[in-house]
Amino acid sequence: MAQVNEIQHPLIQHKLTLMRKKDTSTGKFRTLMREISMLLGYEVSRDMVLSTEKIETPIAPMEAPVLAKKKMALISILRAGQGIIDGMLQLMPTARVGHIGLYRDAQASNIIEYYFKVPEDISSRDVLVVDPMLATGKSAVAAVSRIKEVSPKSIKFVCLLAAPEGIEYFHKYHSDVAIFTAAVDQGLNEKKYIVPGIGDAGDRLFGTM
Ligand code: URA
Repeated sequence: MAQVNEIQHPLIQHKLTLMRKKDTSTGKFRTLMREISMLLGYEVSRDMVLSTEKIETPIAPMEAPVLAKKKMALISILRAGQGIIDGMLQLMPTARVGHIGLYRDAQASNIIEYYFKVPEDISSRDVLVVDPMLATGKSAVAAVSRIKEVSPKSIKFVCLLAAPEGIEYFHKYHSDVAIFTAAVDQGLNEKKYIVPGIGDAGDRLFGTM
């Protein structure tokens, strides 16, 4: 069942506005991306299962909640996905990390994979696929299709911004994968940038404009 979770938390919305501003510096942009990613990670992990463990506080013994052995893998769509990984790892420091590199063949207009490396035990892990921008949805669809081939326990897709066109395309192929995003923007322009968007996420993150 297709699901889009737009995380309307005031801190996320405020930080996103700062990221959208064209004069925001690379350093500030990077910091904001890390901060928003932590907040998105907090929302995405809401359904993590708890068990309990016997502990002793300085005052008394208790059965205290701990995360049930949850094995996560964060998979970054290169290169801008790396910005989200940095924030999420602060929240989930033991998560394993995978990378998938894709580019669009301008002539044939299809997506080509140039890199794929994920944890070997991926079939016992819950996967978060991350990319800041869900624009046309083509790389997200290709990445999730490829990751499904290695059969993780579950998959969620996390982005900073989504275009309605990208959501529709993504859910045409992966209606079973929930999308988590900070905002759904108006749509795509003729160059396939999200409007109003943040510009090129990779360029802004790495200062390559
Ligand atoms: N990729 C980006 O980095 N920005 C967009 O607006 C769309 C795709």
